[in-house]
Amino acid sequence: MTASKSAAILISGGGTNLQAFIDSVGCDDLDLDISVVLSNRGDAGGLERARKAGILTEHVDHREYPDRVAFDLALINTLAPYNVDIVILAGFMRILTPAFIDQFAGRIFNIHPSLLPQYPGLDTHQRALAAGEKWHGSTVHFATEQLDGGPRILQGRVPVLADDSPASLAARVLQVEHRIYPLAISLFIAGRLQYEDGHAFLDGDKLDEPLQLDALTRTF
Ligand code: GRF
Repeated sequence: MTASKSAAILISGGGTNLQAFIDSVGCDDLDLDISVVLSNRGDAGGLERARKAGILTEHVDHREYPDRVAFDLALINTLAPYNVDIVILAGFMRILTPAFIDQFAGRIFNIHPSLLPQYPGLDTHQRALAAGEKWHGSTVHFATEQLDGGPRILQGRVPVLADDSPASLAARVLQVEHRIYPLAISLFIAGRLQYEDGHAFLDGDKLDEPLQLDALTRTF
């Protein structure tokens, strides 16, 4: 039996990854207490998903702060009373500064819709299609100061189909995201995954390459 962890989940949009966590809590060995869902956008669909699930929500509007650091300090202050163990970035569309990242070093996670290190940044599906990629996917990684550049933990791949549009490819990638994100967090909660000196470790071994979903079995 492992100790449960409490989390803040940060969103900006529809929140299907948030929903995957809500649905996984209490099953799939995900011993996670979602203490709060925070959005920088008041109209984020994920806020409604959280309320429906009885989870507390916070709205911190980045437009009300003069710069990134001031916004990050407001995030820290807003989250402080919840005293969370981990921070899960799930479609949070703001670049975080060290002011925030350092508060949660080694216990802040992001999911990015590409097979990192390919396609950091925006418009990943469109760029993968334009490049004629045969495979695309998503990566869960520890968040660091480097945008989409923290140590990679787990990837899920999907095929790119001949008639794909950015939207159809994005939908396929989301399906795999909903599997890999709760799985990666469950490894952390189980005490098997750590962050140290800019690297991810699984069962004490440095993860030079991320785990691949298609290589994992139920007994993993
Ligand atoms: C996901 O594709 C995630 O990788 C990216 O933003 C999207 C969020 O989708 N960072 P949702 O809000 O969880 O549906």
